[in-house]
Amino acid sequence: MPGVKVSVLLPAAGSGERIGRGPKAFLEVGGKTLLDWALEGFAWADELVVALPPGRNLDVPGIKTVWGGKTRQQSVFNLVQAATGEVVLVHDVARPFVVRAAVERLLDAVRGSGAATLAVPVPDTLVQEASGEYGAVIPREHYRLVQTPQGFRRELLWNAHQKALAEGLEFTDDAQLVRWQGYPVALVEGDRRMFKITYPEDLLLAEGLAQVWSSSPRPR
Ligand code: C5P
Repeated sequence: MPGVKVSVLLPAAGSGERIGRGPKAFLEVGGKTLLDWALEGFAWADELVVALPPGRNLDVPGIKTVWGGKTRQQSVFNLVQAATGEVVLVHDVARPFVVRAAVERLLDAVRGSGAATLAVPVPDTLVQEASGEYGAVIPREHYRLVQTPQGFRRELLWNAHQKALAEGLEFTDDAQLVRWQGYPVALVEGDRRMFKITYPEDLLLAEGLAQVWSSSPRPR
């Protein structure tokens, strides 16, 4: 976004419980930690701020760090507080493959509306689980899977975080928090390669993608 300072905020303080191999940000895929993938993917940013789990340090010149909190929201609160950009992009390090074209689409939307997130269509049939049985089918064309990065004018996100803290409310992402404040959040077409590593088998997919990611020409 020419002329506008962009801070990229990386919450990296999760414990990675569902994978069970220590803090997820420090798991390796294709010979690099998930945090390193994210730092490389956003190397163009005017400012990078990382929220670290207790006891971890990051000695990378030019990168700001803050301590993470008990929840993702608390980690992002600390990140927004430390950020100086007019626009902030919040990105989970659990999504190592940063597709530049999708990020550009997001930045365009943030420039227009002040708040936007990447999202992708639901590929599978979506159904309610009713006591172990196949319940009502939900029309998947009306739903989206929300990705990161999510982009906001920093003031907008900061105000929303302060209000959520004051009211003791916790949200799983920042778009929810901003929307809760009555501010519309644009949905921007994401990219399925920006999937989130959550379960052990996701690491296998990530290893496969890591192999083609570094090959030339770059798949993004
Ligand atoms: O656990 P989950 O995959 O939903 O976490 C999403 C992102 O939030 C991850 O990048 C994780 O490191 C981060 N996180 C954090 N502080 C926490 C919990 C999660 O920075 N307390």
